[in-house]
Amino acid sequence: MHPDYDHLQKAAKDHLWMHFTRHSTYDTSDVPIIVRGEGAYIYDAQGKRYLDGLGGLFVSQLGHGRTELADAAAAQAKELAFHPLWSYAHPNAILLAERIAGYAPGDLNRVFFSSGGGESVESAWKLAKNFFKLTGKPMKHKVISRSIAYHGTTQGALSITGLPPLKQQFEPLVPSTFRVPNTNIYRAHETTGGLLDGTDPEAFGRWAADQIAIAIENEGPDTVAAVFLEPVQNAGGCFPPPPGYFARVREICDEYDVLLVSDEVICAFGRLGHMFGAERYGYQPDIITCAKGITSGYAPLGAMIASDRLMEPFLHGAESFAHGYTFGGHPVSTAVAMANLDIFENEHVLEHVRDHEGAFRSTLERLLDLPIVGDVRGDGYFYGIELVKDKGTKETFDEAESEKLLRGFLSKALYDEGLYCRADDRGDPVIQLSPPLICDQTHFDEMEQMLRTVLDKAATLL
Ligand SMILES: Cc1ncc(COP(=O)(O)O)c(C=O)c1O
Repeated sequence: MHPDYDHLQKAAKDHLWMHFTRHSTYDTSDVPIIVRGEGAYIYDAQGKRYLDGLGGLFVSQLGHGRTELADAAAAQAKELAFHPLWSYAHPNAILLAERIAGYAPGDLNRVFFSSGGGESVESAWKLAKNFFKLTGKPMKHKVISRSIAYHGTTQGALSITGLPPLKQQFEPLVPSTFRVPNTNIYRAHETTGGLLDGTDPEAFGRWAADQIAIAIENEGPDTVAAVFLEPVQNAGGCFPPPPGYFARVREICDEYDVLLVSDEVICAFGRLGHMFGAERYGYQPDIITCAKGITSGYAPLGAMIASDRLMEPFLHGAESFAHGYTFGGHPVSTAVAMANLDIFENEHVLEHVRDHEGAFRSTLERLLDLPIVGDVRGDGYFYGIELVKDKGTKETFDEAESEKLLRGFLSKALYDEGLYCRADDRGDPVIQLSPPLICDQTHFDEMEQMLRTVLDKAATLL
């Protein structure tokens, strides 16, 4: 037990405003307080151990307690704690930009740092608008994104987000964003209005990509600046792209001169076994947005990666990209990112994910024998498990059942069982898994066992 436990509980309830949190939950129970981490595990203030099945929040690629990363942060803070990138540079920002340019696919070689994912998304939209204004297409400003996709909470990023319940209370948001269907092939029949049943993934991928062309036509190609897509869409529970999807999206973007932004805030830095998710699926984005795993969470950092072509209009005379963040590319965060990427290389983290992802998938697929598990989907170390009321018909839960099952039972029961992960109903009800990339079969088995125990119980509640 933490020596200051009672004080921490009271102060948490009296003063700490937690994010996306129903505070009333803690009227009758303690706030879970996490005090330490080691490898793939975290420990609460009462000393109980949990498997970190979500990598914090899709962040902790290398797991917890890596002293090299803590040491890199301390050394940099001693050397130069802070200087902004506003007309000045510092060595780690320079070296990290060079390094990321080396990893990034194709011609992506210009790195604009931010302090997190939402800021990277904002930066990409602002760059898209500004680029077209400077290159003779000033009307191009609109953004297309996918239904149920999450792209952040700042007003621009939230406007791009495809989750109406997260947006309504903040309307009016930034205008000019439009949604197209996502690639949930499990629900292809509903998504395509009965046109396709998902048994032909290529046909479904073609259909889903073509919806982007239709949206561009509907809005007017002269007004559309960018399409924001995750390699694997997280919200809704891991929708990988069907075969051919991104190749067709690339064709559409080229045809209409629309920038393809790959929002890799989750999918970069090994989550899918590659530095960038675009590499895994073989497509070339015009911009990549990233954050989270770039430092494995040992310091906050984000980045927008663009090309010479997109930066060129800003390189002459009085022109500049009038955009920035005080802490974007912070010296400590960039030092940590360099040390993080050193470990990626020295310990062959990407290879580890590629070698073990098949085992992760097949271990999770064992859960398909449970009547409540409708679908297990994902790639790399990034999975969603969709829960259904009736497996045969794929019938999902109504609002009240979802509330009882996910909020009333699952999240807490999984945590009590020793698995930190997320039960999410932003689309159909899913359990999200994104463990540290150091995990192996022992961790997969542990996850499967804990999920099985809890999902067995959940099925009896219905
Ligand atoms: C795809 C995607 N984009 C953007 C964001 C926003 O990132 P942040 O919370 O760092 O602002 C997230 C956060 O999870 C995300 O998953």
